[in-house]
Amino acid sequence: MSKIFKYLKPYWLFALLCPLSMILEVSMDLIQPQLMSNIVDNGILGSGALDENLQYVLRTGILMLGFSLLGCAGGIASAAFGTTVAQKFGNDMRKDTFDKVMHLSFQQTDKFTTGSLVTRLTNDITAIQQFVAMSLRMFVRTGMQFLGGIACLLTLNVNFGLVLIISLPVQLTVVALIMKRAAPLFGVVQNKLDKVNSIVQENVTGARVVKAFTREEYEIDRFGNANSELMETNMKVQKLLAILNPILMVVMNASVMAIILIGGLQVEAKAMEVGSVMAAVTYITQILMSVMMVGMMFQQVSRAMASAKRVKEVLDTEPVIFDGNSGAKITEGKVEFKNVSFAYPNTSGKPVLKNINLTAQPGQMLAILGSTGCGKTSLVNLIPRFYDCTDGEVLIDGVNVKDYKLDDLRSNIGVVLQKSELFSGTVAENIRWGDDNASDDEVKLAAQTAQAEEFIQGFTDGYDTMISEKGASLSGGQKQRMSIARAILKKPKILIFDDSTSALDLSTEAKLHAALRERLTDVTVIMIAQRIASVMRADKIAVIDKSTICAFGTHAELMQTSKVYRDIYYSQMKEEGGASVG
Ligand code: CTP
Ligand code: MG
Repeated sequence: MSKIFKYLKPYWLFALLCPLSMILEVSMDLIQPQLMSNIVDNGILGSGALDENLQYVLRTGILMLGFSLLGCAGGIASAAFGTTVAQKFGNDMRKDTFDKVMHLSFQQTDKFTTGSLVTRLTNDITAIQQFVAMSLRMFVRTGMQFLGGIACLLTLNVNFGLVLIISLPVQLTVVALIMKRAAPLFGVVQNKLDKVNSIVQENVTGARVVKAFTREEYEIDRFGNANSELMETNMKVQKLLAILNPILMVVMNASVMAIILIGGLQVEAKAMEVGSVMAAVTYITQILMSVMMVGMMFQQVSRAMASAKRVKEVLDTEPVIFDGNSGAKITEGKVEFKNVSFAYPNTSGKPVLKNINLTAQPGQMLAILGSTGCGKTSLVNLIPRFYDCTDGEVLIDGVNVKDYKLDDLRSNIGVVLQKSELFSGTVAENIRWGDDNASDDEVKLAAQTAQAEEFIQGFTDGYDTMISEKGASLSGGQKQRMSIARAILKKPKILIFDDSTSALDLSTEAKLHAALRERLTDVTVIMIAQRIASVMRADKIAVIDKSTICAFGTHAELMQTSKVYRDIYYSQMKEEGGASVG
């Protein structure tokens, strides 16, 4: 709730004007029945001459019209103010939440799941927005209609109080009972919606894999289940709400009858006039209608509360990875791991890396070799702080990575991820992700170093060729080289290749290595690979096995000292007929 007020604050003036204009509208609504009753009692049934009565009806009629126009103006103004506030409020809240999401650490986004973050950013914020728009107008409207109606009704005749004493408690109890059961379901609805969104997302982004494995039927079933669960919960809510209004209508009609009965008796006894009874019927309808509105509002409130809780969870999440404050700058790019251990938060503390000690020197290429799933990606992820190590220290130029400002740290590290991510845009635009201000020549040079120049020139539009979403129009090896060019253009002190040459043939890979050596003479290069052929020319090779570094040295040294390395070497020689590793 306090979060909602925080976001309303900048628009307080409109947020105030909205209910104020609403007061104008409701006041006019409350005056109308009284004027109507005057027309009947003093005009139509009046004791004066016919001409005089007609004049009275006309005058009061014009007055009613004027008031109703005034009320209408109030209504329009109120709606305009309310909508403006709600839209701006939603916009601000969405922006802040998105900002938060962008700064969350990977382990936190993993926890929320992408589907849920999308629901929270769209559907949940819209629900809160609707609630704000409604409450600004409806709280005032309902309150005034209710209290004003009661006052007007009792002024007409105190005996009508009898009807209220009976009908109000009945209505309020019905509303309370139903809402008590419906409210908890709104949160459930949002969670089910998360699931539906997650499945849609997985399948849209993974459409190719789904088709390749002909898993369409399975995925359609999975979606169907999540979708029916959503529908069933929604149905439960709707069933509850469906019985609400008919019950309230019965109470309302009974109350109207009671008013007519009491009013009729009063008219009989000459204590009241017919017009006043008509006005009383309108007032009781307004009063009981406002109770119905309270029911509707409760619905919106519980829905908005459920959503607000979910958005708040995101807004209140403090990124676990934040700027350090030493003010240090990376100068050389020497990377050291000191007794580093690491476990993912989700794998119940089982360490992926244990007691790693390793140094990568500027101007050298350090290769990391190891079987799939042994923790290579996890290891290099600790350098730009995609995750923080659980034990030990990762140092760059002798300073703990946690002490650098994140921007300073990450702008000096070029990472080519294991899975190349490109964006829709031209080839040049994609490479310029590394550096917005790079000249055409610099882009070209980066592409040359990455061995991408050749295939780019082969495109009809060269560097202006459009790449479709996620780089779907490129081959795996082309995507990898584009990602490498992008990282090189950044001119980082430290360049990390996470299995980024796996899709290149060995001769292209050798050319890439030669170009890197020739052009990036003072950069620290860390290269993860599965193939020994890819790493044997590196200055140093670290072999990871059983979560730790089991061997370290040059190719020649490792062939002498490490059995694991020799095993990998001979098994790969056999596979590739010995030609590639010789
Ligand atoms: N892992 C995890 N949570 C993640 C990522 C990885 O629990 N968010 C686990 C994996 O199940 C794996 C281990 O961490 O057992 C190491 O993963 P990773 O570092 O990605 O292994 P790599 O050596 O990079 O494997 P590959 O060669 O297949 O890329
Ligand atoms: Mg990996």
